[in-house]
Amino acid sequence: MRVRRAAGAAAALACAWAGLVAPGATASAHPAHPDSPPLRALAAPIGLRIGTAVAPANLADPAYAEIAGRQFNVITPENELKWETVEPTRGSYDWSAADRLVDFARAHGQQVRGHVLLWHNQNPAWLVDGVENGTISTAQLREILHQHITAEVTHFKGRIWQWDVANEFLADAWSPAPNEHGINSDDFWVSHLGEGVIADAFRWAHEADPKALLFYNDYNITGEDGTNAKSDAAYDLAKRLRQQGVPIDGVGEQAHLDTQYGFDADRFRTDLQRFASLGLKVAITEADVRTFVDSAETQVPTDPAAVAKQSEYWSGLLNGCLAVRQCISFTVWEFDDADSWVPGWFTGEGAATPYDVHLQPKAAYRTLQQDLREAKHTAPKR
Ligand code: XIL
Repeated sequence: MRVRRAAGAAAALACAWAGLVAPGATASAHPAHPDSPPLRALAAPIGLRIGTAVAPANLADPAYAEIAGRQFNVITPENELKWETVEPTRGSYDWSAADRLVDFARAHGQQVRGHVLLWHNQNPAWLVDGVENGTISTAQLREILHQHITAEVTHFKGRIWQWDVANEFLADAWSPAPNEHGINSDDFWVSHLGEGVIADAFRWAHEADPKALLFYNDYNITGEDGTNAKSDAAYDLAKRLRQQGVPIDGVGEQAHLDTQYGFDADRFRTDLQRFASLGLKVAITEADVRTFVDSAETQVPTDPAAVAKQSEYWSGLLNGCLAVRQCISFTVWEFDDADSWVPGWFTGEGAATPYDVHLQPKAAYRTLQQDLREAKHTAPKR
């Protein structure tokens, strides 16, 4: 019996990740055949890597660890590389949780996505409070950030494939405070250091590990806001950074979908292709497809049509990535419902991952499996 991780102070931020999505999912009674090829093997002929976010505590469960190690060939530490985890007290770093995950990845022939160096969320209290009460000046803040990025990227040098350097800087379609570039002007970092902080973060990360692939990561940058305005802003940002010679290698779309908002798979694919046309790689970095469920414990979709809609959305996400040769990895944000962030952050919603609360594969899993089987013959090799 699995126990879902504590959700934390979720509600205030939940609306930020409004996506789109579809209805219903039913847990499958059929476990995956242990001898059927895992997702990573099905994707290998195309050269696409399949990833999952992992929380290290879950690896103590052998059934969880078995799936994490066998199905996927990329691991993203779900929270363990965030600033509040690695430097809870000023000047004293704790890499232990992330190191453990990186070791797990190495033992299972997996790459690692590093998430995240520069973000407005999950920063340590000493930093946020220090800036607020004036004990950390703007000049000091810039130096602290430089040090943070240098220390973190240097510690993991050669062991991280892709870094999410900057996360969630673009304003939502409904946001009151975008600047002329569509960047949130009231973002913690932008309001103190200006939007040039994004380019600086890329430069500092590149200096610390010139071989790591450096990504800008965000949500709803592939048309999910209905207007494509956020995608346009992301495209302009990526283009500006490229023109300025900033060492950016890719754009990551989080892909947190929701069955109540709809999903335009053609738009998704076209927007991915547009980033690729800039000479960038793309990645799906945090995919899940949530819907309304009976309870956070059992996570059975309340709308019987939801399961099919979820499968359709999963298929749209994966096939969009498969169609774009520059899409190098497809990552789910935790692979099982019991460990998903969704029930803790989106009231009444869940069933967002390919495995149910008992670690059994669902229709979504079989959809991914089937799409990868077909892609072997049709998708461009990367
Ligand atoms: C989430 C984690 O899954 C939760 O465990 C944590 O409480 C909050 O953050 N976008 C991101 C991720 O870039 O870092 C977030 O992860 C989900 C939304």
